[in-house]
Amino acid sequence: MMRIAPIASSIDFVSANQRSGGFPLSRIVYVNGAFLPEADAKISIFDRGFLFADGVYEVCAVLAGGLVDNGGHLRRLRRSLDELQMASPETDAGILQIQRELIARNQLREGLIYLQITRGVADRDFAYPENTSPTLIMFTQSKPVVDNPLAATGISVITTPDIRWARRDIKTVGLLPACMAKMLAREAAADDAWMVEADHVTEGSSSNAFILTAAGTLVTRHLDRGILHGITRQAVLRLAAEYDIDFEQRPFSVQEAYQAAEAFVTSASALVLPVIRIDDRPVGTGSPGPISQRLRTLYIEEARTTLS
Ligand code: PDD
Repeated sequence: MMRIAPIASSIDFVSANQRSGGFPLSRIVYVNGAFLPEADAKISIFDRGFLFADGVYEVCAVLAGGLVDNGGHLRRLRRSLDELQMASPETDAGILQIQRELIARNQLREGLIYLQITRGVADRDFAYPENTSPTLIMFTQSKPVVDNPLAATGISVITTPDIRWARRDIKTVGLLPACMAKMLAREAAADDAWMVEADHVTEGSSSNAFILTAAGTLVTRHLDRGILHGITRQAVLRLAAEYDIDFEQRPFSVQEAYQAAEAFVTSASALVLPVIRIDDRPVGTGSPGPISQRLRTLYIEEARTTLS
């Protein structure tokens, strides 16, 4: 006769802290219309974000309790949704209101706010289902963004083949290649990885990549489907134009990166972060370069005065 396990299995006695992977369960998070303690936040096992990575996301920096470049992040979110014919459960104004409420409820001064929209819950089938309600979740992460210790030291990167898909302009939650690249970097005792395709750097595992040539020209890859159209990248190029720093948007090779005077990455979480080693070769002098540091300062100064 088949034996049915008692309902109260050992899994019920796993501590909340173990379930969370070790970090404290103290935040208020947002799930589909509700603000609730993170331990109570639940998503269906049939959510297409879980089954197919059928979801998109945005990460926005928070400084002094305000959002950095949020307008740009919300515009890119719309674009990602449109490219995947995915509906949004909220207007931009509605999303901003939830972001602000979450920042207030968590008394967040500095850190990140993460938001994710998935196509929602449906029985498992590859084709997009009709009439599902999209899932919207948000959470905050408290961390020093401006006083990031890596800003003073710079970071080291390795180069690794870009094994991602051909629509990197869509900010989907399918991030396993980025996780694998970060693990390769960790194994090589480096801080991060730059992705390489046909001997040219596409971008960082979760950032856009820049070099400064010996002649003083900033170079970052042009926008197409091969990279994420970074919001911080765009702001840094605008600042470069304003402050008369020459720049080119084109592919650059790994060799060119090895010979660069400076290098840095941009992202909502890193802002502008100098790169001081590439594949164990020092970049320029091997310490954060003046143009990289200047662009970081300019970006932070501007961000502080344009918070939303
Ligand atoms: N990542 N390229 C990739 C692949 C990224 O994942 C990111 C951001 C960027 C930079 O984009 P932006 O400047 O808009 O943040 C470029 C976020 C921070 C993340 O996944 O945590």
